[in-house]
Amino acid sequence: MSTPVWTRTWTTASAGQTQALARRIGRALDAGDVLLLSGGLGAGKTTFTQGLGEGLGVRPGIISPTFVLVRIHPNLPTGPRPGGPALVHVDAYRLGSAAELADLDLDSSVDEAVTVVEWGEGMAEELSESRLVITLDRAVGTADGGLGRNVGGDDEGDDADEEPRTITAVAFGPAWCDRDLGALS
Ligand SMILES: Nc1ncnc2c1ncn2[C@@H]1O[C@H](COP(=O)(O)OP(=O)(O)O)[C@@H](O)[C@H]1O
Ligand SMILES: [Mg+2]
Repeated sequence: MSTPVWTRTWTTASAGQTQALARRIGRALDAGDVLLLSGGLGAGKTTFTQGLGEGLGVRPGIISPTFVLVRIHPNLPTGPRPGGPALVHVDAYRLGSAAELADLDLDSSVDEAVTVVEWGEGMAEELSESRLVITLDRAVGTADGGLGRNVGGDDEGDDADEEPRTITAVAFGPAWCDRDLGALS
């Protein structure tokens, strides 16, 4: 499965906008979906996952795992999607190989949950026939990149939460053939 079914790109101007986008994507996800999140340290993978969790209506508290590699966030009966899938959140940063990832036994939950793997590209493709690869990138726009980095000055302590990101979703596999994220509500 190496030919994408479709590709979509968005830009966001802040962590909050990235979460809002992810929340809308989360509402459109189903049990069995697998997302591999790509982008360097601090690109916004965990921030994005927090928004996904809100859209799925799972237990909050999504963080960057330190020692724990996998965290399961059960669906909340009082949330927006009672009875919906849990979120299995994985950080593969410290994993050296696909074999180590296999030891986490994500297979046992992949069909019932939404599985999100930070740093999963090139590592977690075996998990499912279909997947969304989501890349967060600090560069916005074309080759000269960096557009708008310091708009509004950079002296405020919270400016770090308001940097632009380009977010690209590339869909692989039959699960995405007749679903696309073009009309998120
Ligand atoms: N547009 C944006 N989208 C996502 N995060 C952003 C954005 N602008 C600034 N940030 C900040 O970048 C950091 C991303 O951290 P995190 O989500 O932990 O990244 P990662 O999981 O990729 O290492 C957070 O401090 C967040 O507030
Ligand atoms: Mg992270």
